[in-house]
Amino acid sequence: MATQRERAAWIKGGEAKCGDVPHAARAYRLVLLGAPGVGKGTQAELLSAQLGACQLSTGDVFRAAKSLPPQERSPALEAALEYMRRGELVPDATVLAMVKERIECLRCPAGFLLDGFPRTVAQAEALTQILKQENLALDAVLSYELPLEKIVTRLSGRRTCAGCKAVYHVETRPPRIQGLCDHCGGQLYQREDDRPESVRVRMAAYDKSTAPLADYYRRQGLLLSIPAEGAPEEILQRTQRALDSGR
Ligand code: AP5
Repeated sequence: MATQRERAAWIKGGEAKCGDVPHAARAYRLVLLGAPGVGKGTQAELLSAQLGACQLSTGDVFRAAKSLPPQERSPALEAALEYMRRGELVPDATVLAMVKERIECLRCPAGFLLDGFPRTVAQAEALTQILKQENLALDAVLSYELPLEKIVTRLSGRRTCAGCKAVYHVETRPPRIQGLCDHCGGQLYQREDDRPESVRVRMAAYDKSTAPLADYYRRQGLLLSIPAEGAPEEILQRTQRALDSGR
């Protein structure tokens, strides 16, 4: 049965430590690409349980920062939260500073699943440099693809755990007890950037800044395109097959 991988060091940063790192037959270092709401977080959670690699979501880090008292938020972080509320991308410099503060997570011997980062070509180029300095390389970039109208249905029913960040859907992936997380019992909430006006801005930011990344990684021979139709477990199997054949 799948287990939820500890993400303390990634979410909290600073001196936070994760629990025991699971033994994995091989370490996978992957990027998950795709439009907002396509199901990257859901797949990252399932893949993390299967592969042992840690799910590193830049969006989760920014959302966790919202619960910090205002005096502990830097001006850059305050500005980042405002960009997020509107559905716009956070500036590259802020995102990269936050990722570099968590370099230990990229060094994790069990590997990593980058969910929501990189999101611009500048971020992708910076990631390539960071990994090069660490003598690490990506194994693949998973690009999840789904028609827009299905994505909107996924976003409107999404609920997220305030504690461990696990993702649910009111119809297609409900928790066992309404409003409570199956993994940690935390309260489920609806993200404020899932309002229709923010969703429109997020989709536009994706088309303009993130969609070109598919070509960037295709040219490097790393891109694996994965249809994101069907149940999460079917998509997981599709992903696993793509990884096996892309090796
Ligand atoms: P982020 O948190 O990364 O959000 P996103 O990319 O918009 O992606 P989502 O989390 O909305 O969707 P997802 O693809 O993970 O789908 P999920 O699995 O939840 O970023 C948020 C914001 O932070 C950005 O807008 C930006 O402001 C900022 N930010 C973050 N990183 C940044 C960066 N690198 N640079 C600049 N700014 C950055 O699934 C969605 C729903 O569908 C769920 O309810 C789920 O249960 C359901 N579902 C999933 N799979 C299926 C399925 N197969 N069938 C039916 N339902 C499904």
